[in-house]
Amino acid sequence: MTASTNIALIIGSLRKASINRKFAEYIVSQIPDSIKVSEVNIADLPLYNQDYDDMTIDSYERVRAQLKAADAVLIVTPEHNRTMPAALKNVVDIAPRPHGNSVWTGKKVAVVTASPSTYGGRSSGLDVRKSMQMLSAQMMISPEVYLGHATDSLNEDGSVSERTQKFLQKFVDELVEFVGNTGA
Ligand SMILES: Cc1cc2nc3c(=O)[nH]c(=O)nc-3n(C[C@H](O)[C@H](O)[C@H](O)COP(=O)(O)O)c2cc1C
Repeated sequence: MTASTNIALIIGSLRKASINRKFAEYIVSQIPDSIKVSEVNIADLPLYNQDYDDMTIDSYERVRAQLKAADAVLIVTPEHNRTMPAALKNVVDIAPRPHGNSVWTGKKVAVVTASPSTYGGRSSGLDVRKSMQMLSAQMMISPEVYLGHATDSLNEDGSVSERTQKFLQKFVDELVEFVGNTGA
């Protein structure tokens, strides 16, 4: 671990009351202070257009720089219509452009999905993995975390239930190891 070890957090939901944000906040709260986590704002990114490859779009430059500087990227996302939400796909598409300047190449990436439904947004998580494989990112393979019936895993105050906290611990431990925190 270096003093500058850092994770860029992307939350695939733009809505204020996002359950994925709540799980992301819990996961981040369990990451040691020695690893800095900063959220990548994806809400203001214009929809990707290849014509922009020849232009300087400030918000694009901001996210590319933030992702490039990160030791790893943690994506916590819902599923929209059996795949990742458009806002998340947008940043997935913006970050490897212009061609030859991809910030995803070799990047460590971990994904968690959550949904009130039975399957926990698994198709969204698998599609993130599929895109990251094509982009030559270094995906954290396991544990796979697709939180089903996720609203049941939140207490009335929005905090994560004790049972799900225990379930997420293995993911947090593996993520810290994956990012390269030696605890030194
Ligand atoms: C446009 C749209 C499409 C959705 N499609 C799916 C889906 O394919 N699978 C699923 O499990 N939930 C789906 N949902 C329900 C979401 O899982 C649910 O709204 C969830 O709370 C979204 O996550 P968030 O609270 O973090 O925004 C969809 C919701 C919306 C608004």
